[in-house]
Amino acid sequence: MAAVRSPAPAVRAEGVTKRFGATVALAGVDLQVPEGAVFGLLGPNGAGKTTLVRILATLLTPEEGRAEVLGHDVVGEPAAVRELLGLTGQFAAVDEILTGRENLEMFGRLFKLSRDEARRRAAELLERFDLADAADRPARTYSGGMRRRLDLASSLLTRPRILFLDEPTTGLDPRSRNQIWAIVRELRREGTTLLLTTQYLEEADQLTDRIAVIDHGKVIAEGTGSELKDRVGGQILELELSSAAQRDEAQRVLARVGCGEPEPDERPDRLTLPAPRDGLELIEEAAAELRRAGIGVSDLGLRRPTLDDVFLQLTGAPPSEDGGLPRAVVAARTRAQRRPMLRLPRPSAREIRLGIVDAAVVTGRNLRHFIRQPQLLIFSTIQPVMFVLLFVYVFGGAVRGSLPGGVKYVDFLLPGIFVQSVAFRATQTAVGLAEDLERGVVDRFRSMPMARSAVLLGRTVADLVRNVLIIGLMIVVGYVVGFRFHGGLPGALAAIVVVAAFGFALSWIFAFVALAVRGAEAAQAAGFVVVFPLVFASSVFVPVGTMPDWLQTFAKASPITLTADAARSYALSGGPASLGSAAAWIGGLLALFIPLCVWRYRRMG
Ligand SMILES: Nc1ncnc2c1ncn2[C@@H]1O[C@H](COP(=O)(O)OP(=O)(O)O)[C@@H](O)[C@H]1O
Ligand SMILES: [Mg+2]
Repeated sequence: MAAVRSPAPAVRAEGVTKRFGATVALAGVDLQVPEGAVFGLLGPNGAGKTTLVRILATLLTPEEGRAEVLGHDVVGEPAAVRELLGLTGQFAAVDEILTGRENLEMFGRLFKLSRDEARRRAAELLERFDLADAADRPARTYSGGMRRRLDLASSLLTRPRILFLDEPTTGLDPRSRNQIWAIVRELRREGTTLLLTTQYLEEADQLTDRIAVIDHGKVIAEGTGSELKDRVGGQILELELSSAAQRDEAQRVLARVGCGEPEPDERPDRLTLPAPRDGLELIEEAAAELRRAGIGVSDLGLRRPTLDDVFLQLTGAPPSEDGGLPRAVVAARTRAQRRPMLRLPRPSAREIRLGIVDAAVVTGRNLRHFIRQPQLLIFSTIQPVMFVLLFVYVFGGAVRGSLPGGVKYVDFLLPGIFVQSVAFRATQTAVGLAEDLERGVVDRFRSMPMARSAVLLGRTVADLVRNVLIIGLMIVVGYVVGFRFHGGLPGALAAIVVVAAFGFALSWIFAFVALAVRGAEAAQAAGFVVVFPLVFASSVFVPVGTMPDWLQTFAKASPITLTADAARSYALSGGPASLGSAAAWIGGLLALFIPLCVWRYRRMG
């Protein structure tokens, strides 16, 4: 089948730079990847491979220079780029809780396949990647090799024209590595352009048509495997000495016959040197000179250079594990391509419809997480249940006297408990989002042609559903200890709606926390430190009137008090008190934090 060739190369990068604080990750990368090729990006840890791949996959913005994928600028036309690419990042971005099949079906839906197509394509890929037997097990039970294959399959749902593979075999056992290699070769036969990064010289040599060697954020050499080998000179002379003490002398003797600088070697009794002259003649001369100098040699031989030798020759050092040490800041130059601070594109009707589907798919996925982890829901209700019991039976007697006439404490307390439940649960929004960020799931979402807001909306809406469920459970617990709604069904529903809306607003705050601080634990800790005092300095448990004056001022204005009071008046009498202020808080928080989250999400990287 004749592939349609576009005149533009599959990837063109010109002078691409990227810094992280003081670290220069890319110091001006130029690269061209022809379409249909398997292109290898070879470099040690910290060389800048992942940064470059993330820029090409539209996950990071370059500071200077420009990059195009299949003729589309990665900064100017990220949506077009995302339509064409598949990305398998350095760390498998699979959803651990979902099964392999569910993972593929979810990503298929987000790639705009219909439900049936997604199902069919998922089954096909599971079969092809030898995952059919494990298809209905949670991905958390998969081995490293299986996860990689699932991750790779997730990138191939729509047969991308170009696939980025970031260290696809790092950390895999030889059998899994061979499976990945076979897949790469098959994709190449099918005409997919591949850009793969690797630290393994053997891998680049085996799999790729062309290799760029990258080190300290710069391409330091480029060519086919053989061209790179030729750079080292014809051959490599290797010898083992009988005594390591004679190493320096042996080196001097061999320099006289034309050998180059030896490669660094952890074994002192071994010498590996480039041998630029005709092999046989050289080995004869070398042997004669060594014997004349009285140097004992236990082994002497010539071999073709490996890519390791190429690296040693090009950089003067073996591919090391510490290439990622922070480097000096290069002089700050103008930042050529910056995204505007807050661009609010006006979506078309079709985009809105697709965005709603995306958000629904992500919501469904997050709700599945709750269903699969019932322990989370149980833990979420233990704490409010304990508060109910503690306050009704331990502190309730003391509080009763300060309540308005005729109000039972349990009736006062329960609406407050609804509010504190959603307030404490809001930190879970941050934890869930932070985990998705850490596990690379968000990267996969961001590299796909899906609505940008769907990830955030899917998270906050799922948490809204969960909050309503928790309020429902707390109502059941309340009824057991004597709580009753006195404002009829409309009053009860209105109380639930107010609390749920407040919880929804809090979810957006904590989504922003997760995007800003990164790390699930940090998000959780930050949340607790803020929520705990706010909940206690409010009318959740006791009327504000019982507090000292200075605290009353604060507690009266607190959105927690206002929401609790509004819910309480609906529950007690069916009529609102402080609804206006509560609604103003909720509306204000949403109006502030939704755009903040979207802005932060768009500008990640
Ligand atoms: N998000 C980040 N924040 C700070 N430094 C980073 C970040 N990502 C990468 N770096 C640094 O940039 C350099 C290049 O990293 P990377 O592109 O991951 O290299 P490679 O993938 O080749 O191992 C390293 O020094 C790394 O520590
Ligand atoms: Mg990397």
